Amino acid sequence: MRTQVAIIGAGPAGLLLSHLLHLNGIESVVLESRSRADIEATIRAGVLEQGSMDILNEAGVGERMQREGALHHGIELAFGGRRHRIDLTGLTGKAITVYPQHEVIIDLVAARIKAGGALLFETSKVELSGIDGSSPRVTFEHDGQARSIEADFVIGADGFHGVSRPMIPETQRQDYQRIYPFGWFGILVESPPSSDELIYARHERGFALVSTRSPTVQRLYLQCDPRDSVDNWSDDRIWSELHARTESDDGWKLKEGRIFQKGIIGMRSFVCAPMRSGRLFLAGDAAHIVPPTGAKGMNLAISDVKLLANALDGFYRRGSEEGLDSYSSDALKRVWRAEFFSWWMTRLLHTFEEASPFERQVQLAELENIVASRALSTALAENYVGAF
Ligand code: FAD
Ligand code: DHB
Repeated sequence: MRTQVAIIGAGPAGLLLSHLLHLNGIESVVLESRSRADIEATIRAGVLEQGSMDILNEAGVGERMQREGALHHGIELAFGGRRHRIDLTGLTGKAITVYPQHEVIIDLVAARIKAGGALLFETSKVELSGIDGSSPRVTFEHDGQARSIEADFVIGADGFHGVSRPMIPETQRQDYQRIYPFGWFGILVESPPSSDELIYARHERGFALVSTRSPTVQRLYLQCDPRDSVDNWSDDRIWSELHARTESDDGWKLKEGRIFQKGIIGMRSFVCAPMRSGRLFLAGDAAHIVPPTGAKGMNLAISDVKLLANALDGFYRRGSEEGLDSYSSDALKRVWRAEFFSWWMTRLLHTFEEASPFERQVQLAELENIVASRALSTALAENYVGAF
């Protein structure tokens, strides 16, 4: 098989890139190790920046997002028993949409299939070769058969644990990493929303986040030990922690409901630079990871592939390698700003066991400063909505 662009991974990065290329008349094949049902059901991120919404709308895959997603104009920071609104739209003119990542995946898969796109699920033994030459090759197994694809370019959109990043020799790349000593316990709950806006709560017992999925399903998180097991968390224990951490002096209370999904995610910051080696380009989590506190993961994947789609368009339309040559440095500029914001929000809102009493008071003072200062609130809001 031969194609112009071979894409490894059908996450938001791989699927959207394939669709953007298609809109520019560029052919691609997407290889995914999991099944369609599996990728369409995996619960992950929930927040889309305005820029991500614009990209999905322009690509013609935003119709259901506009109809079913919830537009949010603010978020709340909760600490010291009080909630403080950050007026995202008032401060930046922009908003965010809460629309779950698996719904974005469902929309993108449907669009690729409708357009006759080549999307191979349940592939295994994916290997890359020849990325330093002009015709790299991907070999893999599909339906029990050994197959291979020759392409002009290979895109590693296969997430943090994929096979692409290790193809960039260690001597050619630098990995930057920070692992946090805590994770998030995430649940899905059958209940009406407790709040019109997301609540990011800082509490001595640990961070908590109140988010939503729909008028009948809510998404809640609480800081936990990343090595803990969901089996240690009864529903009663989860509710009592969530109530304690989100408690408010004005009597506001979280609404309970049936918990139907539980999971623990670890948290890390990671960047691989450069995001390219020869004819191999990395996009999304394959190249970088942020802790989820800033809600940036899916948005970075989307902005990477928008850059990459433009660069590949320049190559095929005008024979220009300029966009390909600047892809890594252009993408990394945005990536590092999101790394900063995600690290800063994480540090601002989580309980660090080793923090001294002084550091805990300074953390609270920083929060007080943010909500008291229009300048600092604006800086938070600009980063959160991706106003740059
Ligand atoms: P992915 O979505 O990881 O997609 C990569 C795809 O490649 C996967 O479908 C994988 O199966 C496939 N793949 C891997 N290896 C191979 C291979 N060898 N061959 C073929 N296919 C392969 N971000 C937030 O902002 N908020 C959150 O709450 C949040 N929660 C998360 C929870 C979890 C459990 C995880 C893992 C991530 C979470 N994220 C969150 C991050 C966000 O979901 C990611 O940033 C986003 O999915 C990145 O998209 P991607 O397309 O780059 O990678
Ligand atoms: C969600 C996840 C996040 O990481 C975040 O910062 C906000 C919302 C969510 O899953 O809804």
